[in-house]
Amino acid sequence: MEKKFKRTLVTCALPYANGPVHIGHLAGVYVPADIYVRYLRMKGEDVLYVCGSDEHGVPITIQARKQGCSPQDIVDKYHVMIDESFKGLGINFDIYGRTSSGTHLENASAFFRKLYDDGKFVRRESEQYYDPEAGTFLADRYIVGTCPKCGAEGAYGDQCEKCGASLSPEELVNPASRLSGAAPVKRKTTHWYLPLQDYEKWLREWILEGHKEWRSNVYGQVKSWLDGGLQPRAVTRDLDWGVPVPVEGAEGKVLYVWFDAPIGYISNTMELLPDSWEKWWKSDDTRLVHFIGKDNIVFHCIVFPAMLKAYGGYVLPENVPANEFLNLEGEKISTSRGWAVWAHEYLRDFPGKQDVLRYVLTANAPETKDNDFSWKDFQTRNNSELVAVFGNFVNRAVVLTHKYFEGRVPARGELLPIDREALDQIPGLKASLERNIETFKFREALRDAMQIARVGNKHLSDTEPWKVAKDDMARCSTILNVSLQICADLAVAFEPFTPFAAARLRTMLDSPLDWSLLGCGDILPAGHAIREAELLFAKIEDEAIQAQIDRLARIREKLKEEAAAGTGVEPGKEECTFEEFGRMDIRTAVVLEAERVPKTDKLLKLTIDTGLDRRTIVSGIAEYYSPEDMVGRHICVLANLKPRVIRGIESKGMILMARQSDGRMRFITPENGQEAAEPLMPGSTIG
Ligand code: MF3
Ligand code: ZN
Repeated sequence: MEKKFKRTLVTCALPYANGPVHIGHLAGVYVPADIYVRYLRMKGEDVLYVCGSDEHGVPITIQARKQGCSPQDIVDKYHVMIDESFKGLGINFDIYGRTSSGTHLENASAFFRKLYDDGKFVRRESEQYYDPEAGTFLADRYIVGTCPKCGAEGAYGDQCEKCGASLSPEELVNPASRLSGAAPVKRKTTHWYLPLQDYEKWLREWILEGHKEWRSNVYGQVKSWLDGGLQPRAVTRDLDWGVPVPVEGAEGKVLYVWFDAPIGYISNTMELLPDSWEKWWKSDDTRLVHFIGKDNIVFHCIVFPAMLKAYGGYVLPENVPANEFLNLEGEKISTSRGWAVWAHEYLRDFPGKQDVLRYVLTANAPETKDNDFSWKDFQTRNNSELVAVFGNFVNRAVVLTHKYFEGRVPARGELLPIDREALDQIPGLKASLERNIETFKFREALRDAMQIARVGNKHLSDTEPWKVAKDDMARCSTILNVSLQICADLAVAFEPFTPFAAARLRTMLDSPLDWSLLGCGDILPAGHAIREAELLFAKIEDEAIQAQIDRLARIREKLKEEAAAGTGVEPGKEECTFEEFGRMDIRTAVVLEAERVPKTDKLLKLTIDTGLDRRTIVSGIAEYYSPEDMVGRHICVLANLKPRVIRGIESKGMILMARQSDGRMRFITPENGQEAAEPLMPGSTIG
């Protein structure tokens, strides 16, 4: 690697703590980063490996609403779960921090404040969607409506999950708030913006001129953003979950999650190294590398660098190896739809097989285009590559050494051309592997490592030492010596890819983890004792694979049913307190008169008797109930709902309905369809 760097700082995208990590995350970000870090460490480089949970932003608050708990509960739960999954897979960050930590709150806040004080932001008033019923501004994700592109219902204000189009809330047809169902209205609000256009020229020079070696998907996205012209970007939001904006007059505002999260890389480094973090972030001889997925490119190549540049004194990324997406059995992975293979479930279902997943995700890495994970392919790669080639070769070499040479590395006699041919390939494969890892081509690098196993396996099959042993022990000794040297090579070459198996192999051979020895042809001296053979990889049977395929089939079935039922199960709403509920005046009533509201399809005007009074209610049930259906019906109403004028009619109260499990609504009807002869409970409206 080039000399100008003294150390390498590797960051992995901070996963949102709104769900567990899945194979898409692993293939896109964490497995490649881990290969890179393990490789550099083996080569003796100074490396710092930083990650953590991204605990702010709307994805967290939405998950909290869905599960009926607080955002803090959500991040506490998933932070631990994600951390454990990474560890389980051998992905050992130097620090796995979290953006809800005190260190981060302080650091992100101070970072904003410095840019603010230095006049790096512009303040702007704009109109944003506001929910008049919930009394809050709505993040894009909190607005749903019909997709203008494909017509699907339930598209979000930032994206349609059906057709994948990115949207702005203004584009949605019939937008509605996910909080209250109300139609959102525009309201003025003030935010701070980073004027990205001021950094355009600098970004062009730095990336488009200076980093032509970046992956074409990354370079291409950056170029198209720059060619499209950069705009000021809001770095604050009206939201109650996040880092409060440390400026007077900014009550109720927090830093935009994409402003605070990347600062998390720095905060987590500070947390680990309070006295020396600056060495990693503020020296020109640090090589900073961000591992991310393709949806993160603009933030890591444009926004965060502009923030760092505005602040001054920070290093900029030397490379940003972003991957494309991994699909699962031909379909886009989706946390919200549950279409995923989750890391923690994999670890539970395939104990001891961390390497297999790492191997398959690398062999199929979505480096240059989207790629697919299928369970059949997973099985094939395990059984016919890891087991049949790598594992089989090692096993034969070690077993034969015990059989003929009492577990000691036999001496090497004269090498025949067939031996030389095998040994001579390894330095070339090593050089190729190095070049590939250093240029972030991990699939190719894995192929090089696997090629070493193929070379060893073929050499052993072609030379047939078990036959030679019958009459030429000296030749058998040379053959096995060569085989064992190649096994020792594999114990080094596979360390970045399948670290668990590589470590077991080193134990078996009692061989060193020393990159400089790889390919020397002479790692294990004659007479060196090795241990008994132990299986490196085991065959995966059809039943285990079928169980996974069946699980996915059940999810597919459920998704199909939900799609057929319309919108799918609605997420539950945010919790409300006993006091809030206690303010509701719920009463039984009887409908006296009913008529359609002219020129509408949905509205009925009802005259009801609550026992307190007679009053008018306008209700949106006309599509399902005719006026005749309603007259004489006993209902429950929320009697103290603030009156609203609908189509010129003052509506006082609301008919109460409840959601059935199939998503449809039905009336809440007083017992026996009429007022109970005796009150069941005196007093309160709350049972
Ligand atoms: N949480 C984001 C995601 O999952 C990634 C954040 S990366 C960081 O897409 F740089 F902001 F930390
Ligand atoms: Zn769409």
